[in-house]
Amino acid sequence: MFDSNVRTLCVVGAQWGDEGKGKLVDVIAERADWVVRYQGGANAGHTVQIGGRAFVLHQIPSGILHPGVRCAIGNGVVLDPDTLFTEIDELVRDGVDVEGRLYVSDRAHLVLPYHKLVDCESAASRAIGTTGRGIGPAYEDKVARRGIRVQDLRHLDRARELVAHGVAHANALLAASGSERRADTESTMEMLERLAPRLLTLAEDVGLAVHRARQAGAAVLLEGAQGSLLDVDHGTYPFVTSSSTTSGGAAIGAGLAPTSIDAVLGVVKAYTTRVGNGPLPTELDEPLGAIVRELGKEFGATTGRPRRCGWYDAVVVRYAARVNGLTGLAVTKLDVLDTLDRVAICTAYECDGDVYDEFPGDLVVLERVVPRYEWLDGWRESTANARRLDDLPSAARRYLDRVRELAGTAIAYVSVGTRRDQIIGLD
Ligand code: IMP
Repeated sequence: MFDSNVRTLCVVGAQWGDEGKGKLVDVIAERADWVVRYQGGANAGHTVQIGGRAFVLHQIPSGILHPGVRCAIGNGVVLDPDTLFTEIDELVRDGVDVEGRLYVSDRAHLVLPYHKLVDCESAASRAIGTTGRGIGPAYEDKVARRGIRVQDLRHLDRARELVAHGVAHANALLAASGSERRADTESTMEMLERLAPRLLTLAEDVGLAVHRARQAGAAVLLEGAQGSLLDVDHGTYPFVTSSSTTSGGAAIGAGLAPTSIDAVLGVVKAYTTRVGNGPLPTELDEPLGAIVRELGKEFGATTGRPRRCGWYDAVVVRYAARVNGLTGLAVTKLDVLDTLDRVAICTAYECDGDVYDEFPGDLVVLERVVPRYEWLDGWRESTANARRLDDLPSAARRYLDRVRELAGTAIAYVSVGTRRDQIIGLD
């Protein structure tokens, strides 16, 4: 993926998240010097399978599993300091050397216990089906200029005032939502005073560090979390996360200029999944939905929730290709479809006699659309051992051809299993 023209590559999810970005980032990071997470927070769950062991990373970039690769959490992330250290300690216990190669932007905002409390207690969060990790409330505080940044921990007296302000606001929200639970400043400050020294050793001007690395020729991978259809602007609003998951958000969230991004890889599953509420036009009826869920082990890496499953939706991916400026696609979990007699691709939507080739922004329309399907033969043989395109059954190649044609984007990778080696590179 990296060459003399591509020095900074952004990896985004092109559906509703859980596309397998963790695996792709892990594969590509082998040749990266830096990997930077640019948005989201501990709502993400990036699973990487190495030698029979599954590593689930929530906030730390998946590049950490490659020795020598520097990893950074960018200013656009909302950072939960408590769970960050749990994650670091688990990695160290598993023999991953994190020392001296993990950086946290000093501009990143903190997710504090009261953000999680508000997220878990609010009816609005429940209606959306959030992960309960405090992501929305933390981004709300950021935009309302009430947030607390990593660098505020350098001045704990000032941080106490900011926390008191945040707690008062959270308590007003909790009272208004009818919850009896309350946040308090003292316990939040105790946690911050305990964690601040350790967190500040990781604090860095990440934008500047990565800029300098780029000038010295470094290969930089910008790692997106969630998916394009969960983007706060481009997704199925209000059933979205609270950050800019698309490539435009990568520049802002990593602290780089938009012109510094040379290529954008969109990761898509060979079918579609969604966790949480909101429209999913190609959602499968039972029992097929449950069959695909079992075949694909579609249960959330962060919350364990069963994922809703649907056929591959080319309208969604074409849209994601446009808003992200995708220069390549990675198709994951092709093997999950191996046993099906036939497979469908949604090429357009119909609603009240209108045909939609482009993804509509109107949620009322989206909730009522009927997918127009193109049916293709299944291949009914295992793809798990394919390592080159030619190793795939012809029906699987035809399926991928349609995916490529309908997205208008070349396929750079096809993943056929969870292991690192189960990947076909088409570069
Ligand atoms: P939040 O990000 O916790 O506020 O949740 C908002 C919406 O995004 C919910 O529908 C979540 O299920 C969804 N979401 C958040 N993170 C992920 C993820 O990593 N994968 C898939 N869906 C996610």
